[in-house]
Amino acid sequence: MSAGILGMGKFVPEHVVTNTDLEKRMDTSDEWIRTRTGISERRIADEQTNTSDMAFEAAKKAIHNAGLTAKDIDLILVATVTPDHPFPSVACMLQERLEANHVPAMDISAACSGFMYGMVTAKQFIDNNTYRHVLIVGVEKLSKITNWEDRGTAVLFGDAAAAAVMGPVSDGKGILSFELGADGNGGKYLYQEDQFIKMNGREVFKFAVRQMGESAVHVAEKAGLKKEDIDYLIPHQANIRIMEASRERLGIPEEKMIKTIQKYGNTSASSIPLALADALEEGKIKDGDLIVMVGFGGGLTWGALTLKWGK
Ligand code: UT7
Repeated sequence: MSAGILGMGKFVPEHVVTNTDLEKRMDTSDEWIRTRTGISERRIADEQTNTSDMAFEAAKKAIHNAGLTAKDIDLILVATVTPDHPFPSVACMLQERLEANHVPAMDISAACSGFMYGMVTAKQFIDNNTYRHVLIVGVEKLSKITNWEDRGTAVLFGDAAAAAVMGPVSDGKGILSFELGADGNGGKYLYQEDQFIKMNGREVFKFAVRQMGESAVHVAEKAGLKKEDIDYLIPHQANIRIMEASRERLGIPEEKMIKTIQKYGNTSASSIPLALADALEEGKIKDGDLIVMVGFGGGLTWGALTLKWGK
């Protein structure tokens, strides 16, 4: 047996903020945002909806889609940099809301790479038979740390949650290879200070293009995949130009890259699982498909894995 995904769920707030809406709030244009980032609109949560509320909605669906109940969950991991509070963790709040058993629960802070860190952590516990069913949620309410006066960051981000239940799947399926990494020297390029996200966009861009491409190629090689074998690439949805660079580095055609950035913007830890959940809903991903996922984020951090879809 190996560790794979048994069920997915997602939640996006109803409120849509378009580029045209942002034009009215700051010195920017729909044209600039679309051509420089690929984003057309994003979802923004209302005042009453916090990170744990979105996590709860996505988690319920993932558990249901896995054919399980909350009592079957053995470990809860939440990847987020926008928890409701520094502590208790969103994972503990979620355990209570789900009425799960008194299983271990913790948040993972690896910014946009958080879901990759979560999946790889879950895999270790599943592989060594410590825990059978692991719930992992990628969730962000980035709007609460967005400085709406800073057009360099405000146009990029959105709020969302997406969740997976991981567990044992048949041999040959599930996670085939992975790579995680971090470089604290780059922490100064993307961080939170005085409540707000601060970013050196150009430095993050350069790092992301290099690291996403390299990590995607490494995990494909480790799994013995040739470019023709790859059915889908699911990159972190940060900027369409960064995503395209990683696709080109892998040498796969455009239609094999899952793209949701146009409608959700960059949702950090939620972005990769949200794209996967969307692709599943659209019926794109089939049993046995080979998927490469790759992300990067503040820290700086990165993570990639290959997954053969199915139980
Ligand atoms: O999850 C990880 C999160 N971070 C990222 O993924 C960020 C990675 N970086 C990027 O995606 C890009 O660097 C940005 C989208 C943030 C910026 O794109 P860029 O092509 O690197 O633009 P730039 O920062 O070099 O700015 C070009 C121009 C500047 O004007 P001047 O100096 O040439 O006159 C900016 O002031 O664009 C201006 N600009 C804007 N104009 C209209 C910057 N933001 C905006 C804006 N609307 N929102």
